[in-house]
Amino acid sequence: MRKKAILITGAAGEIGQALIENLSASGEYTLLTLDLHPLPDELHGRSVHLIGDILDQKLFARLVTEYEIDSIFHLAALLSTRSEFSPELAHQVNVNGTLNLLQLAADQSQQRGKPVRFMFPSSIAVYGLPDLATKQRDFYVREWDWNSPTTMYGCNKLYCEQLGSYYSHNYQQLAETTPVMLDFRSLRFPGLISAFTVPSGGTSDYGPEMLHAAAKGEPYRCFVREDSTIPFMAMPDAITSLLLLWQAPLESLSRTVYNVTSFSLSADEFYAEVRRTFPQAQITFEPDLNRQGIVDSWPAGLNDKLARQDWGWQPAYDVARAFEEYLVPNIRQRYR
Ligand code: SER
Repeated sequence: MRKKAILITGAAGEIGQALIENLSASGEYTLLTLDLHPLPDELHGRSVHLIGDILDQKLFARLVTEYEIDSIFHLAALLSTRSEFSPELAHQVNVNGTLNLLQLAADQSQQRGKPVRFMFPSSIAVYGLPDLATKQRDFYVREWDWNSPTTMYGCNKLYCEQLGSYYSHNYQQLAETTPVMLDFRSLRFPGLISAFTVPSGGTSDYGPEMLHAAAKGEPYRCFVREDSTIPFMAMPDAITSLLLLWQAPLESLSRTVYNVTSFSLSADEFYAEVRRTFPQAQITFEPDLNRQGIVDSWPAGLNDKLARQDWGWQPAYDVARAFEEYLVPNIRQRYR
């Protein structure tokens, strides 16, 4: 008998670590985690961890001989800034890697006669606002607004959302018998802020970087203008939303892709929050024109009405609670 498992790709990344922490707590699930890198020591023993590449199809072929994959949290990706430096590699990982996993999920769904639930974090990067006036006017974008990304990462995410939807609803539509399709669900996250990890290679990184640098007593040069505004979310809320959508009954979902958000802040407002706790923080604003352009094209806020309506999404952490109860105490402890 194969063992039933949840597969998490990109497991050593920021969302991955927080997700493993959460899903392993009950001992209810067998977690199969995959990443190019080992997991940090604190997570050892929480999962069966494999060091490997999502582009390695042989690896997946071996995996399914031993495990029945029940759900997939496909988190592995090259983030937006990194993707701009190696767009073709980003496409390989972000698109071809996702295709491999969708195919694995499609085969598994068919084999066991039951849909594999496929969770896919998407991003504010799928949006591309044409200018700052429009960004201000259409402050809280809806899922179908401005789907015109300006980055390779944004293009990859938008396309993979659609690919996921295709595998969920139309895969093998001309075959004589309709296959058991997978169950694809995706969330568009704002910039995520964790107290325990720092992001790498993203463009919303200036928020968390500012905070972690201040806590360490290091100077930080913020690479966007003071007025640059995007939505953010504390990591515990990101995990809550991911798990809520994962557990939601299929009948309650009116779409495959949902916005979720907590609060919007300008870089200056973010700095003010940081200063409240770390008054000595040495932050300067030295915009990098290229990264600034990316942030300017991202929405200032997300309209997450449908997530609230369909599956009861509600963030637990507004700005004040995120900083006071989650970020500041944990970061203080971390750099003590
Ligand atoms: N935080 C991501 C990035 O900056 C966006 O999803 O790339």
